[in-house]
Amino acid sequence: MKTSGNTVFISGGSAGIGLAIARKLSDTGNRIIINGRNKERLQNALKELDNAVAIQGDLSVESERIRIANELTSKYPDVNIIVNNAGAAFMNDLSDTDNNVTEKAYQEINTNYISVIDFTSLVLPQLLQQKDAAIVNISSIAVYRGNKFLPTYSASKAALHSYTQGLRDTFAENEQLNVYEVYPPLVNTEFSAEIGGANGIPPSEVADELYIALKKNQFEVPVGDTKKIHELVDPITEQAPH
Ligand SMILES: NC(=O)c1ccc[n+]([C@@H]2O[C@H](COP(=O)([O-])OP(=O)(O)OC[C@H]3O[C@@H](n4cnc5c(N)ncnc54)[C@H](OP(=O)(O)O)[C@@H]3O)[C@@H](O)[C@H]2O)c1
Repeated sequence: MKTSGNTVFISGGSAGIGLAIARKLSDTGNRIIINGRNKERLQNALKELDNAVAIQGDLSVESERIRIANELTSKYPDVNIIVNNAGAAFMNDLSDTDNNVTEKAYQEINTNYISVIDFTSLVLPQLLQQKDAAIVNISSIAVYRGNKFLPTYSASKAALHSYTQGLRDTFAENEQLNVYEVYPPLVNTEFSAEIGGANGIPPSEVADELYIALKKNQFEVPVGDTKKIHELVDPITEQAPH
């Protein structure tokens, strides 16, 4: 698709991977709308971006999602790309029954899966009016394998991955709307600090890969270490009936 002249909404665009995507797409001539919960972080992020505005709000809360979607579609009716990037993750020890295991899982599945489905469906009518539109879901290398540190987070991202495949299949015949999935490996952001994120790749690498993928209409976007796994797994899973 075209990589300039788009109007792009980025959830969680005030930090980390979302901000790196905002920078990349701002630098390449796109209009940017960033979202996040904290107003000060949004204002600081806007200072770095050209042609950018913010819509503050918590996408994990239904009433906020509706307000954000309404503001987005009424003020920026030409929005043609949404990047569903905001996410929640908790270290969740399944053996520790006093550890609010279920509450953490609920927050992850709500933010990483339910909220993405709902927000996408709220904005979909607007996207379907555009000549060239995209939905970009930021999943994770974690979709391929759960582990004992982030078991419920990986499960929520696996759900997002499966939903994204179904969404892409739903619009397979529609050449004007494409569905991208970006699979970052460990990335050095605040989000991953607790799990050794300092050893991860810079968020700009994720943004660069997404930019190239948009240009090439390459809907599957494995990044860094995810590429090796993706090369092995994708040809096999694509053989499953769909
Ligand atoms: N970092 C990694 O190693 C890694 C690896 C694979 C996948 N990912 C995925 O990449 C995405 C971004 O992660 P990141 O590492 O860039 O995180 P980050 O640096 O912590 O940034 C998260 C962004 O999302 C916003 N946000 C969080 N919850 C929100 C909500 N409920 N509503 C609106 N905005 C919200 C944050 O701003 P406020 O706090 O002000 O709301 C911030 O702008 C996530 O989906 C994550 O699962 C990350």
